[in-house]
Amino acid sequence: MKGPTIVLAALLTAALPLAAQEQSAAEPTIPHNIAAETYAKAAAEADTDSIVALIEPGQETANAPWACATCHGTMGEGSLTVPRLAGLPAGYITKQLHDYRNGARHDDNMQYVVSTLAPDQMAALGAYYAAMQAPPSAEPSLGGDLERGRALALRGDWSVDLPACFSCHGALGWGVEQAFPAIAGQRPAYIHAQLAAWKSGTRQNSPLGLMQSVATAMSPRDMRAVSDYLATLPPPQPRYPDQ
Ligand code: HEC
Ligand code: HEC
Repeated sequence: MKGPTIVLAALLTAALPLAAQEQSAAEPTIPHNIAAETYAKAAAEADTDSIVALIEPGQETANAPWACATCHGTMGEGSLTVPRLAGLPAGYITKQLHDYRNGARHDDNMQYVVSTLAPDQMAALGAYYAAMQAPPSAEPSLGGDLERGRALALRGDWSVDLPACFSCHGALGWGVEQAFPAIAGQRPAYIHAQLAAWKSGTRQNSPLGLMQSVATAMSPRDMRAVSDYLATLPPPQPRYPDQ
């Protein structure tokens, strides 16, 4: 179960000196291979009280007219193609906000939302949603083959060069450290849209291109199968930035 994670950890460590050099050369964007860990440190120090007005509907400020809860739900539970945020790693969440901002990830709604957010607000939002708890609410909705989905999540399919999802996303699909998000209990239409976006190249932000390779090996049928299977699983527990 730990194989690819350990390999990735080694690659990440090997890439660190180069990444550090790049940053010192006034490069404002943190490289994807270390971004989640770097942002987690900022999230651990962030003041989550400072962003409550950004989250709750009715408390919108001129700075952020769209409250997160309007779309992501009052418990961060998501709906349809809007992702569950509750329990995702703080570093991962913060990284995604930066990625919408710097164009590595595209979505009209989220690009608008992040356009006025400062880095310390993004880090606080990461810490806030990581520590949130929302009950299970996703259900299979794509007509996917659940047995096939389970096989892909647990074992992969080497006949099509597809590694097990859980070799990277954790034995329960609850994520591993900061770079590997939880995918269990996530919205199937959302998961499906992300896999399709990686395959088509509109989402290009995974470290070392890992998810591009995974999605490229998947047929539309396999994408529906695994998205629906993941919706049958319990969602992640709340976590804190240093977890
Ligand atoms: C108008 C609706 C809307 C609002 C308001 C909104 N979001 Fe989103 N959010 C979305 C949608 C839709 C997506 C999925 C976009 C995609 O497919 O990339 C998303 C994706 C995200 C993601 C990526 C999650 C992941 O699992 O990779 C994060 C993080 C996020 N939103 C955080 C926020 C925060 C924080 C706020 C408030 C400051 C916010 N959103 C406000 C609709 C919204
Ligand atoms: C080799 C490691 C690896 C494997 C195997 C892997 N993933 Fe991922 N996955 C990642 C990483 C790293 C990210 C975070 C990308 C980022 O930073 O945007 C990710 C992100 C995702 C996301 C985005 C979650 C979100 O909230 O937006 C989805 C969905 C996903 N993976 C699904 C899968 C599925 C389904 C499989 C199995 C078919 C799988 N992954 C296999 C490494 C992997």
